[in-house]
Amino acid sequence: MHRSCYKGTLRKRAEDVAEAPARRYIPLMLDVPTLSIVLAPAPILKRPARAVRNEDYETVRALVPRMFATMYQAPGIGLAAPQVGVGLRVAVVDLKPEEKPSPIVLINPEVVATSTEMVTREEGCLSLPNQYAEVTRPARVKVRFFDLDGRSQEIEAEGLLSACLQHEIDHLNGILFIDYLSPLKRNIILRRLAKEQRQKQSR
Ligand code: NI
Repeated sequence: MHRSCYKGTLRKRAEDVAEAPARRYIPLMLDVPTLSIVLAPAPILKRPARAVRNEDYETVRALVPRMFATMYQAPGIGLAAPQVGVGLRVAVVDLKPEEKPSPIVLINPEVVATSTEMVTREEGCLSLPNQYAEVTRPARVKVRFFDLDGRSQEIEAEGLLSACLQHEIDHLNGILFIDYLSPLKRNIILRRLAKEQRQKQSR
């Protein structure tokens, strides 16, 4: 979802972000170094990340601006810490409604409620560049998380934001969008990705 979690043509809808809580603005500073994005099938992408504790906050405050810089450069709309090789429950999201930055930092996020209504959308992932597939998920979710100041926050989301939040929280549980596909489709995507990466390296 990105243009991170997902790539592809995205229609940005105001209601996707209308209920997001106050966000801490994280400027996209050009001098923040980006991080390398880990590609599937790296083992860290399959491992559940561990919860952020109080003593991790300094690490997280240093990590988050670099995650945003990496995500914006990709470009993407979501990025989870395991995708940059860090096994902590941290993710960043920015759907940039009307092209305006609206960054969300999710620390120890949890889906606390889901709608019974399901919806299917095309997803992609920065760890699976150029690979897309339709994924069916609950249409609406309520997500509880901590922000960079350690305050508890809640978002009720629908549309693209709902799918993006679920996709990023999945990353923290070692789940990729291809895990929702049949083994056949999953293997086709993984083989195509490996082939494309080999071709890219030999160029
Ligand atoms: Ni992803």
